[in-house]
Formats: sequence, C-alpha cells, structure tokens
Amino acid sequence: MTRLINNYALKRIFLIGYMGSGKSSALKQLGKLLSWETYDLDRLFEERYKISVQDFFHKYDETAFRKLESQLLKETVNYENAIIATGGGTPCFYDNMEWMNANGTTIFIKVSPKTAVNRLINSKKKRPLIEGKSEQELLEYVERHYGERMPFYEKAHITVKGENLDAKEILSLITLSYNA
Ligand code: S3P
Repeated sequence: MTRLINNYALKRIFLIGYMGSGKSSALKQLGKLLSWETYDLDRLFEERYKISVQDFFHKYDETAFRKLESQLLKETVNYENAIIATGGGTPCFYDNMEWMNANGTTIFIKVSPKTAVNRLINSKKKRPLIEGKSEQELLEYVERHYGERMPFYEKAHITVKGENLDAKEILSLITLSYNA
C-alpha cells in the first residue's frame, strides 16, 4: 500500500465509480462522518459553465466535456479536507486517474452492472450517455462500457463494494491502508 503514502493522501478523497454506483450517497455519508467539505464534479461543472451536463453534451460534444472536466478536476487541488465525487467517466480520460492517485486517496465504489442498471432505471438524474435506452439496451451497454472502464477504476487505492455501502467501513479501510 506504499502508493497511498503521499503527502496528499489524507487531504482529499476522490470517489470514483460507474454511473449508478452510489458516489453521491457515499459523498453525503462520508462528508457527515468526517465533517469535511463535499464536492460533486458534475455540480462544479454546471455551476462554472451555467449549463447542465446533459445540455452541454447536446450543444457541444463529449470531447469538449472531457477537457473541461479534467481542468475542473485539477482545480480541486485547492481544496483540503475535502471529498470529491467524480463523474463515471472522469478516471478514464487524460491523466485524471494518475493525478487523483497522486493528490488524494481514491476510492472505487464497485457495484455489479446489474445493480448499476437497476439504479439507473430508477434515477432522476439525466445522463447523456444512456438517454433513450430501453432496459435491455441499457444492460448490454453497461456491461460492455463498464468492462472497458474497469482497468481505470481498478487503479484506485481502495475498492469498496457499493451494494450496501457503509461510510464507516470506508473510513476504516482508509485508515488501515494509510497505516500499512
Ligand atoms: C458520465 C457520468 C455522469 C456525468 C456525465 C458522464 C460518464 O456522472 O459525468 O453524464 O461518462 O459515466 P455520474 O457518474 O455521476 O452519473
């Protein structure tokens, strides 16, 4: 676990994981538990550019989104004692994953594709990459797409199962890794 021993490990926590993995809920829980500031990268994007992520994808494209998303991510270096929930694709573009690993503790919230799909079907959040898909199409898409992203997610310092998330367990894993 020497990867974790860097000066920034305990200043920032980055939550990563596929759409529907429960990053937002983990963000709230961990924020309360630690009394740290919480940030959601999509919200930061929408506040900065005054446009929803969904509308941005429609008006411009994913390439433009990824560029601005990466810039915003790197601005979080200014936050200390902060937990940052990233978008599902954030770790998979540019050097974002390496950057997060070097500037904080990364937590991969891992759920099965089936869990992600069930949550996505019931979610109110608008997600441009999956809009208009039937349940069957969504399941096929998520299985393939999640698989492609897995090598990035697996670079995280810590992986936790997201099905029955427990913030206290995440904290004890961080402490254990830090002391290892
Ligand atoms: C995306 C996930 C979304 C958002 C954008 C793209 C992705 O965030 O950043 O729609 O590429 O997986 P959530 O993971 O919070 O849904």
